[in-house]
Amino acid sequence: MSLFQWNDNFSVGNSEIDAQHKKLFQLAARFHSAMTKGQGKQSLQQILTDLIEYTKYHFASEETAMQRSSYPEYPEHKAEHDALTRKVVQFRDDVAADRAVITIDVLKFLNDWLIHHIGQMDKKIGDYLRHQRPSAA
Ligand SMILES: [Fe+2]
Repeated sequence: MSLFQWNDNFSVGNSEIDAQHKKLFQLAARFHSAMTKGQGKQSLQQILTDLIEYTKYHFASEETAMQRSSYPEYPEHKAEHDALTRKVVQFRDDVAADRAVITIDVLKFLNDWLIHHIGQMDKKIGDYLRHQRPSAA
């Protein structure tokens, strides 16, 4: 199985969240592809920055949906978002300052995190939102 291929198993049953997750997978795939093509540090850093910016946008969007619907597990979910954001921003800054290098481990980390977070945490939001608005598509 190749990394960062979205498929229906990742669907959380909410079209807006799914569309954002697809975009995250695309950005991660672009990062993967740039790495395997041996693109330089600057270009990898740029893609990583794009990925971080989109992740922040996506997390904010999920957090708004959780808050609007009084989602009971909001604090745990927000804490996971914050932890991931901190970790990836720190990594990007370390790379920029030559304290770290981009290796395949970064891709593995992103892949494991996406699968775990979407598969467990985000599916619960999707289920909850569907029960809040049973008539919504
Ligand atoms: Fe999430």
